[in-house]
Amino acid sequence: MRSPQRAGLAGLPERVGVYEVGPRDGLQNESTVLSPVVKVDFIRRLIEAGLRAVELTSFVSPRWVPQLADAEQVMASLGPLPGRHPVLVPNERGLERALACGATEIAVFASATESFAARNLNCSIAESLATFAVLVARARDVGVPARGYVSMCFGDPWEGDVTAAQAAAVAAELAAMGCDEVSLGDTIGVATPGQVVDLLEALDVLGVGTDRLAVHFHDTYGQALANTIVALQHGVTTVDSSAGGLGGCPFAGSATGNLATEDLVWQLHGLGIDTGVDLESLCRTSMWIAALLGRPSPSRTVQALSPTLG
Ligand code: HMG
Ligand code: MG
Repeated sequence: MRSPQRAGLAGLPERVGVYEVGPRDGLQNESTVLSPVVKVDFIRRLIEAGLRAVELTSFVSPRWVPQLADAEQVMASLGPLPGRHPVLVPNERGLERALACGATEIAVFASATESFAARNLNCSIAESLATFAVLVARARDVGVPARGYVSMCFGDPWEGDVTAAQAAAVAAELAAMGCDEVSLGDTIGVATPGQVVDLLEALDVLGVGTDRLAVHFHDTYGQALANTIVALQHGVTTVDSSAGGLGGCPFAGSATGNLATEDLVWQLHGLGIDTGVDLESLCRTSMWIAALLGRPSPSRTVQALSPTLG
């Protein structure tokens, strides 16, 4: 299999933590609902490919996200895993379910806009943050760290433009309530690199440094890799992506898949940045899951490499 030729660039980190969201952000938006056995196999294959941060599932309302209604079964079959394995929780019920399953990290998910907070969580931004403060404190009391997401950081389907100040204010609240890491979400994939820098600078002014930030780009307008590289140049070292570019968000109609992990890894390895990921093994996993979902992977790297993988 072809590998990227290596040529470094100044000002980039030596290592990037790839945070894999395929089993959660990917599968939550697929019309084909996979069995828990397949999901567990998917997660194990991702870990075998070298991914050390894999978001496993969501403990949300099964009425809202039926694709992930089997969270308990998935967790029970997985048992202890190497690395970091957060699960999404929206409310106290979700936290109780997650802790009962032995979750080792939670993720709460806020929005920079009122429209998406209402559509995704059925409450206001302030109400969601008040709930999350309780969840994060309770999780930390039992030694479980929390990640916080901010959706719609760079644009919103109902409200249009979103300012850096608006997104930074929500991200800073998540950091202040005790989220160890805050992931900046471009839910509908509209951001361009200048916006990414504006948001990182706005967060720096609020005292939230890039050591606590991750970036989460969807690739709707083909900007995800360009946005990633400027984030890395500004000190971010954790990047969210999904194997094979699976995903979207069922509550944001214009969202397509996440940045594909293979496309990210191709670029990072080309830049001489260590990820710990075995690209061939990851591509094989994405080809396998795409066949089960009945559609080809949208990842350009998977498409380019798959003919040579047989
Ligand atoms: P609600 O309808 O206001 O809540 O939803 P409710 O309390 O009235 O509950 C509705 C039903 O769900 C009830 O059942 C509850 O018992 C049940 P019923 O009585 O009708 O049979 N329920 C639950 N069941 C299991 N686990 C729970 C739970 N909570 C309630 N935790 C709620 C409010 C927050 C529950 C709902 O809005 C919800 O589940 N939202 C989750 C939406 C979601 O998962 N979105 C995708 C993740 S976010 C994302 O993808 C963006 C991200 O990738 C970053 C980016 O790209 O920007 C992270
Ligand atoms: Mg997402």
